[in-house]
Amino acid sequence: MADANSRSITTNQTELHEKLDEIVQKHLNSEFKKPIAAHTLKAFNEVNEKVQAFAGPIILDSCCGVGESTANLAKRHPDALVIGIDKSSHRLDKHDVEYKQNEHGQYILVQADLNDFWRLAYEAKWQPTHHYLFYPNPWPKSKHIQRRWHGAAVFPFIVKLGAA
Ligand SMILES: C[S@@+](CC[C@H](N)C(=O)[O-])C[C@H]1O[C@@H](n2cnc3c(N)ncnc32)[C@H](O)[C@@H]1O
Repeated sequence: MADANSRSITTNQTELHEKLDEIVQKHLNSEFKKPIAAHTLKAFNEVNEKVQAFAGPIILDSCCGVGESTANLAKRHPDALVIGIDKSSHRLDKHDVEYKQNEHGQYILVQADLNDFWRLAYEAKWQPTHHYLFYPNPWPKSKHIQRRWHGAAVFPFIVKLGAA
């Protein structure tokens, strides 16, 4: 359903990208060698301690923006620890006081680059029960395919992390 606040998207790609199979195969068959950034490693290590100590389900809200969805997911899954991840401190800082923790669930917001964070989570054997990626396509042009997660080099790790 369209949100009244969303801007409309114009695109020159009206069907599946013609090179999608080729791009995904290339990423599945090659090693993603980008070094892990120190700030994401530090952020991951902090949240990993909490994840390892937590006995219930782990839920990821990747690209959580201001974290509104993270707070709502925590309410929807009160037995889980929901982890909202976004690279933008500007967006995370906007997380309004009304979204803050209450008795209806628990969540953590993390500033990190998902190109690194997902690989670290996979190595640490995280097994999220759910993985949410609310990502209205900000790169609608056909030539931007590799800026969308299914066309990115890190895509195999999203799949390997599993979850619905
Ligand atoms: C289109 S917005 C969607 C935000 C939110 N999920 C929503 O539905 O309103 C995309 C978000 O992805 C974040 N993002 C983009 N690339 C990222 C990356 N490599 N690592 C972490 N966050 C990233 C941006 O900072 C932005 O907040």
